[in-house]
Amino acid sequence: MLYVGIDLGTSAVKLLLMDEKGQIRKVVSKEYPLYFPHPGWSEQNPQDWYGQSVEGLKELLADCDKSQVAGISFGGQMHGLVILDEEDQVIRPAILWNDGRTTEETEYLNQVIGKEKLSEYTANIAFAGFTAPKLLWVKKNEPENFARISRIMLPKDYLAYRLTGVFCTDVSDASGMLLFDVKNRCWSREMMEICSVREEQLARIYESYEAVGCVKPELAKELGLSEAVKVAAGAGDNAAAAVGTGTVGDGRCNISLGTSGTIFISSDQFGVDKYNALHSFAHADGHYHLMGCMLSAASCNKWWMDEILRTSNYEEEQRQIEKLGENHVYFLPYLMGERSPHNDPAARGTFIGMTMDTTRWDMTQAVLEGVAFALRDSFEVAKSLGIEIRRTKICGGGAKSPLWKTIIANVLGIRVDVIESEEGPAMGGAMLAAVACGEYPDVEAAANAIVRIVDTIEPDPELVKKYDARYQQFRQIYPRVKELFPALA
Ligand code: XUL
Repeated sequence: MLYVGIDLGTSAVKLLLMDEKGQIRKVVSKEYPLYFPHPGWSEQNPQDWYGQSVEGLKELLADCDKSQVAGISFGGQMHGLVILDEEDQVIRPAILWNDGRTTEETEYLNQVIGKEKLSEYTANIAFAGFTAPKLLWVKKNEPENFARISRIMLPKDYLAYRLTGVFCTDVSDASGMLLFDVKNRCWSREMMEICSVREEQLARIYESYEAVGCVKPELAKELGLSEAVKVAAGAGDNAAAAVGTGTVGDGRCNISLGTSGTIFISSDQFGVDKYNALHSFAHADGHYHLMGCMLSAASCNKWWMDEILRTSNYEEEQRQIEKLGENHVYFLPYLMGERSPHNDPAARGTFIGMTMDTTRWDMTQAVLEGVAFALRDSFEVAKSLGIEIRRTKICGGGAKSPLWKTIIANVLGIRVDVIESEEGPAMGGAMLAAVACGEYPDVEAAANAIVRIVDTIEPDPELVKKYDARYQQFRQIYPRVKELFPALA
């Protein structure tokens, strides 16, 4: 049988066709625009997601035996606010996970409602990108839009709704709304009240590997699929990526180097970070996970290459980098503000330490290292909670770079396991569809059967020492410059 995984990303939707053994048959990617209507704001049109996903499905399935397609599922960019009116029309563009407009609402939630209460109700505190502060923003700034809301959705759930007609979400993605009681896997009454939301405006909750329905008959016909093709709830992109890299069960780690950068730690048990710097979310395998999320990761390198150096040859640029651990330039990768661990939408990208002999490659290296150091910030929080991480998987566009993987292994001082494909969320989506269709008894069994490690990058003790010294410098920069950022904005 064949399974489709749809990774609804920020720059593009990626669709992957997988057979029942986990072999990837085809991958298709379709881009859509991202809008920054004000500095620090970030929006997309949900209709673009749907249009490009349907186009992508047609291309993906063009030359396969369509009668073999049994299931479809998703990994989706998290936290985005999609609002529909009674006629199912999208009320305004979606406000995305990396949008920083909700400073006031985030502060209200954390200071007035209070972090303890939020953490008790949802296992998390408010971060600017989360969905609940965005609802409060719409309520205050666009009351006419707020009054029209009939359904509140996350990005991949909009896609599921258009594909199946079922108003659904899954536990992992719902966790990032700050409306969800993560421990008990249900909507939080208290948070609904705080945000003036009624339960009928929120979707029915499923486990990520549960089938929610089938593709609508007219769409199935257009795509040449059987009406029996099942659609599973899917997961937020990080939980889906964790499934796709086999980061399921207890105490496993995955790093995703996509537009965002995340460090994801799976756990059998529910647990909350006592500093609330790491998110405590439900996992797509039926259990839980902790996660640190930086807002700009591979996107920092893309910005540096595309916009500043104006080159598309990333490999050639990185080939010039020779002296790992010895750079005198530092880069704070906060191009969209920062989430974990600083929770500071006003933070900005910063180069520091240049001299007359600094080369472009020192700066390229500083960008790659800055992202690795910022990941280490979350890694240190996990360590301080007593979590021991000796190795990690890695996925996302940035994981294509052998140099970047080496830098990460040495900045964190852990082994980096490289798996056969770095298609984390799309692969995870296809695997969740396979579980929903009964191909595997559960997510862990699917991961054990499908995910293969093909290489391991060992940290080099000398380099780890050098990077440790440099990280100690790096971590002093943000606290000293953070006061400047609000005025710069
Ligand atoms: C996770 C997060 C990002 C987005 C990116 O909390 O905000 O990783 O999911 O798509």
